[in-house]
Amino acid sequence: MNRRHPLKRSAELFGQAQHLIPGGVDSPVRAFGSVGGTPPFISHARGPYLYDVDGNEYVDLVCSWGPIILGHAHPAVLEAVNLAASRGLSFGAPHPGEAELAAAIVALMPVEKVRLVNSGTEATMSAIRVARGATGRDKIIKFAGCYHGHSDGLLAEAGSGAATFAIPGSAGVPAATAADTIVVPYNDLDAVRAAFAAHPDQIAAIITEAAPANMGAIVPGPGFNKGLHDLAHEHGALLISDEVLTGFRSSAQGYWGLDGADEGWVPDLFTFGKVIGAGLPLAAFGGRAELMDLLAPSGPVYQAGTLSGNPLGTAAGLAQLQLLDEALYGRLNDKAARLKAAWHEALSQESVPHTINSIGTIFSVFFTDKVVTDYASARTQNTRAFAAFHAEMLAQGVYLPPSAFEVCFVSDAHDARALDRVVAALPSAARAAARA
Ligand SMILES: Cc1ncc(COP(=O)(O)O)c(C=O)c1O
Repeated sequence: MNRRHPLKRSAELFGQAQHLIPGGVDSPVRAFGSVGGTPPFISHARGPYLYDVDGNEYVDLVCSWGPIILGHAHPAVLEAVNLAASRGLSFGAPHPGEAELAAAIVALMPVEKVRLVNSGTEATMSAIRVARGATGRDKIIKFAGCYHGHSDGLLAEAGSGAATFAIPGSAGVPAATAADTIVVPYNDLDAVRAAFAAHPDQIAAIITEAAPANMGAIVPGPGFNKGLHDLAHEHGALLISDEVLTGFRSSAQGYWGLDGADEGWVPDLFTFGKVIGAGLPLAAFGGRAELMDLLAPSGPVYQAGTLSGNPLGTAAGLAQLQLLDEALYGRLNDKAARLKAAWHEALSQESVPHTINSIGTIFSVFFTDKVVTDYASARTQNTRAFAAFHAEMLAQGVYLPPSAFEVCFVSDAHDARALDRVVAALPSAARAAARA
């Protein structure tokens, strides 16, 4: 057992937080509701490790749900943030860092202009507004199990926390708003075709995760993303590729670089987040100039933000993006490959049914023997087995996403020592899963 200290202080803090914050957390999955137990309260993080207030060290395979690609508290990122902080925390006025970060994104992704926002939720919400403004249409198509943040229209059959807690659609979403979202199964072009046929000239956009990672990792079938692009254009609609999670995680050009870069098709609008903010609240959406110039003050689509383009966020994001190269993605791939092989071996040893899916350097292990290609197959998982597995990994000092519908991330700081610790924890976690 790696955990030497019981989660006493964490439990006290969780109890206090529950009096003040709904469920004790500011984002639902953090409450450990679907895996049980007390969430460790984190005091600090360094490299590949999280440290809780009770004195335990964990190898972190969540990496703040994606942004931490270099490892926690990376010196170059910290230096950039400290320098920026010393100059003032927010100006509410243009500053050089905004265009510098925009230039770094435009250099890597097939977008001509980007606007910076504070969260992935804002990015997707705003991209949809641009698509509606551009087409004069209201409806959008989204895929069951995909998560694009928590704006009203995007919560129908959403992945991530909504999937974790089996919430098919959130309370509080106006029926009229929900009616404009058409939900279809992932990896099913015929369903998309049927949606266009049923709503002629009404659909503004298809929004899709470039590769879904919020119902576990799902790989788009061959030609699926291009098929979406072609269908959207055939029907006068736009394709929004949500790369909030996948962007800059597996290749410099996001998942699009792995999937579409060589085939000559480009989504109309992209959304980014996580890695481009390096752990600070920063996200972006972008596309062709003619679409992005629909935004105020150039055009009639309104979008704004007090803290948008915050100088700490742009400094952190730029410092991180400057350190990403193909060699780093190669290293992340090797680390993920080692973990996936060890996971497979440990679970096979205990005859625990499982399927491992990968999106570049991101991976997830489903406790099912089914091939997982969409939300319906993702939901065949034995979530009890996952919860037992999760608890045992945590007890041994490995911090996994506390949900069977989330993915694992590695960072460049995950060295042999950290990976060895994960590998050593797997056999007893597999035994716990087998018993569940
Ligand atoms: C693909 C995708 N889009 C959008 C979001 C929402 O981002 P945020 O949590 O920053 O609002 C997420 C968050 O996980 C995501 O994975």
